[in-house]
Amino acid sequence: MRTVAFVNHKGGVGKTACSLSFAEGLARKGFKVVLADLDQQMNATQCAGYRDTEGKNTVYDMLMGAKTAAETIQDAPFGAILPGDVLVADAEAELSRLDTPLMMLKDSLESIESYGYDYCIIDCPPSLGYVTRNAMVAADDLVVVVQPDEASVTGFARIWEACERTRSNRHLNPSLNLSGILLNGFDWNRRLSKRMACELPGFAAEFGTRLFNTKIRSCEALRQAQASSKSVFEYAPACNAAVDFSEFVEEYLEGEGRAA
Ligand SMILES: Nc1ncnc2c1ncn2[C@@H]1O[C@H](COP(=O)(O)OP(=O)(O)OP(=O)(O)O)[C@@H](O)[C@H]1O
Ligand SMILES: [Mg+2]
Repeated sequence: MRTVAFVNHKGGVGKTACSLSFAEGLARKGFKVVLADLDQQMNATQCAGYRDTEGKNTVYDMLMGAKTAAETIQDAPFGAILPGDVLVADAEAELSRLDTPLMMLKDSLESIESYGYDYCIIDCPPSLGYVTRNAMVAADDLVVVVQPDEASVTGFARIWEACERTRSNRHLNPSLNLSGILLNGFDWNRRLSKRMACELPGFAAEFGTRLFNTKIRSCEALRQAQASSKSVFEYAPACNAAVDFSEFVEEYLEGEGRAA
């Protein structure tokens, strides 16, 4: 099982849209996918068909060490989901009191290693606190979602530092791969979008990573799909974002040598 986390401490950049569409895109290619919803807004969980998680185990229980992923996993249209929880908002303080606060997610995911999932996709909250750092410890690959604005560039150094802290500790995750930067909300008609598309490859290289060639265009249908708790592929399969996400999945798989 290869684990891919979508991160950025900045809110509203499209982590949920990208992780969900990536999970869907991989499932449409025939891969067996599970999505871990660490975003307390629980959009991905709702898109998987769960209005609430009453009576169900959630990622909060996993983070607290109370339940394993095997005890938490639920079916979803794209495969399976580890349901989100509004309580994840409280997890930061509670994790800080545990003995191994950064290992909780990785430890609990071990229980589904034998289930035959090809990919575990993690939708992270907008912070670089314990919850996101748990994702960094559990992940093989990190995809940093950015929007075409200056703040994305200035904020990137903090993400890289968190990644380095995870890599430099042999007990955490020395093989964590900073897979690349995914530009989301791209608009060829905007000067800033075009400038970022030119500048980001060089910027990414300075941090030992790359800008994915595929850019996810700004797309109203994607916004509407998310607002109606639907997958963009189901809601508007021919829209720009659906096309871009399919391309992104191909680009990612090519990087892994797994393209069809
Ligand atoms: N490419 C896009 N085109 C149009 N709207 C988009 C695009 N990507 C994301 N959005 C919209 O922007 C809003 C924020 O996106 P999303 O919830 O995915 O961000 P996020 O990074 O997960 O936010 P948070 O940090 O709060 O978890 C949503 O309404 C979403 O539908
Ligand atoms: Mg989100």
